[in-house]
Amino acid sequence: MRNAITFVHAILRDTVKAGDVVIDATVGNGHDTQLLAELVQQHGLVYGFDVQQEAIDAARSLLGGSSERLRLICSGHETIATAIYPAHRGRVKAVTFNLGYLPGGDKTITTNAETTLPAIEQAIGVLTADGIITIVCYQHSEGLREINAVRNMLQQMPQPQFSCLETNFVNQRGNPAVVFIVYLRHQQTDLP
Ligand SMILES: C[S@@+](CC[C@H](N)C(=O)[O-])C[C@H]1O[C@@H](n2cnc3c(N)ncnc32)[C@H](O)[C@@H]1O
Repeated sequence: MRNAITFVHAILRDTVKAGDVVIDATVGNGHDTQLLAELVQQHGLVYGFDVQQEAIDAARSLLGGSSERLRLICSGHETIATAIYPAHRGRVKAVTFNLGYLPGGDKTITTNAETTLPAIEQAIGVLTADGIITIVCYQHSEGLREINAVRNMLQQMPQPQFSCLETNFVNQRGNPAVVFIVYLRHQQTDLP
């Protein structure tokens, strides 16, 4: 639990099983995609979305050996609902968002609240009954706006169907990332 990424990876390791269908909503350099491909093993499927061909290419070369379990899509995550196979809607175990810009790339190409919120909504729509969404947000200027928008959205989610968590690394120097986790509670509607 050293930082936001190791925290999210621990949650994904705990949740994603062999044969699952999962989504990396922000492929970037492909490190999260790589973890997901390892977890779903050869009979699972990882969808990966990024708006930059550079990111898709980087991930493809990192993950060359696992190409049979990957579907990398050069398109915004706000197209998740229509871009995945109809048979996978309602079957996705986890969707992971690592927001912001491509490390070492063009900082002006960054995720933003206008597309992140519809993407989270679509991610919720494709999840299986015990699915989860993880969202890592960074505190750069657009990121702060995005954190507030995501927090505001998740605070409105109905408690019988969703558990929404926010985690902060309160003693980390600099501008530590904020992590949001959304758990579906569809099978537990009797809970308050
Ligand atoms: C912080 S990086 C992701 C890091 C990555 N998960 C990794 O493991 O290396 C954020 C990525 O989001 C991408 N991005 C920006 N807007 C997007 C959108 N609307 N849909 C999908 N990806 C987007 C950027 O191109 C960038 O590659």
